[in-house]
Amino acid sequence: MKTIKIAPAKGLRGVVRVPGDKSISHRAAILSAIACGKTTIKNFLFSDDCLATLGALSALGVRISADKKAAKVVIASSGGFKKPRSLLFMKESGTSARVLLGLLSGQDFSTELTAAPSLLRRPMQRVIEPLALMGARIKASGKSKEGFLPLQVLPSRLHGIHWRQKIASAQVKSAILLAGLYAEGRTVVEEPQKTRDHTERMLKIFGADIKIKGGKITLTAGVLRSPRNIFVPGDISSAVFFIVAALAVKNSRILIKDVGINPSRMGAVRVLKRMGGRIKILRKRSIFEPIADIEVQTSALKATTIKAHEIPCLIDELPILMVAAGIARGRSVIEGVQELRVKETDRIASMVSNLTKLGVNIKVRLLNKGESIEITGGDGLSGADLLSFCDHRTAMSMVVAGLAAKGRSSLDDISCVTKSFPDFLGVLKHLLVK
Ligand code: S3P
Repeated sequence: MKTIKIAPAKGLRGVVRVPGDKSISHRAAILSAIACGKTTIKNFLFSDDCLATLGALSALGVRISADKKAAKVVIASSGGFKKPRSLLFMKESGTSARVLLGLLSGQDFSTELTAAPSLLRRPMQRVIEPLALMGARIKASGKSKEGFLPLQVLPSRLHGIHWRQKIASAQVKSAILLAGLYAEGRTVVEEPQKTRDHTERMLKIFGADIKIKGGKITLTAGVLRSPRNIFVPGDISSAVFFIVAALAVKNSRILIKDVGINPSRMGAVRVLKRMGGRIKILRKRSIFEPIADIEVQTSALKATTIKAHEIPCLIDELPILMVAAGIARGRSVIEGVQELRVKETDRIASMVSNLTKLGVNIKVRLLNKGESIEITGGDGLSGADLLSFCDHRTAMSMVVAGLAAKGRSSLDDISCVTKSFPDFLGVLKHLLVK
């Protein structure tokens, strides 16, 4: 537990970089392990989640050398894996667990996966179901109920399927595509709602036989070739905390360099711009992912409506967007937020509790099968004693709320930021006007 005190900020100024993208770091490590050869990954995110993936790959016999200071990982693989000697521990990383289930389903040995308590409660059936249709044998082990970790993956022969996504989830899509690398025949994933496409882009640079047309991804098994070098763009999901802080706190102007601006991740920036946010995307360029610098200035925010179809492109940014809505003048509505119930914590509950303490009027409504949130902002936030609920994105959102509030705030525990952004406070300190 690490409690912090948060004083209202006088301004944010300066130029910073945020650490490498979490989703891309996981995928870079996993595909480097599947490919034959040596891959150097630069700007890799050294956070608890990505270390869970590296730990699992290392237990599967992949040679990994990690240089945390240089944010560099070198992976040397023969393209094959060996049976781990013990359980694979996923820590709290849902992406590691779900995506690796796809890879493990295609191996000729059995493995067992377990995780830290918060991940033992998160649903796995959404990924087990399509993998089982491909022929995977995934069984609940230990005391867990069906569909939750710990899970045992038994050896099986996989075949391609045509899967139409029921829940918009990039983790599920990625698990199916990785299993497809070991399957006989074609694997097709159809996405009614587009989710982050990092796996598809990464598979392309590894030479996979993958085609994307409209919302349909088609993959055929084949050998992957290492691209030798991968640079991981800065994480837009980390940058967004500084973006909202700079918009909300007077006297602010910041530049965040080398951030990934993949359209499937830019939903929050699009929303903040239509709320009146002065955000400029500068020096746009492309590696295998689009990347740019982002300039932000203090702005008067106004309310907006976020439609359900926008949610997959801003799912991880919803807590901080709720803070922005609490600051903005007028009534904002965010539709289709039910997936927030099964994140690291129930993020609807965590945000309702915290925003209410900050003096914001927030209501949750049930609509058909979904849930929507209504936030009326504009009266200013009042400092409060806030809780992280052991959730990194709730914690960072509350720090930003505290900076924008009138009066002092506290946060019970900031240590959970190690999941995605270990040096969050260090980078923030660099930006705060003294
Ligand atoms: C992720 C996908 C999203 C996101 C998570 C990372 C990924 O989860 O919330 O933080 O790397 O594929 P879902 O696929 O469950 O929506």
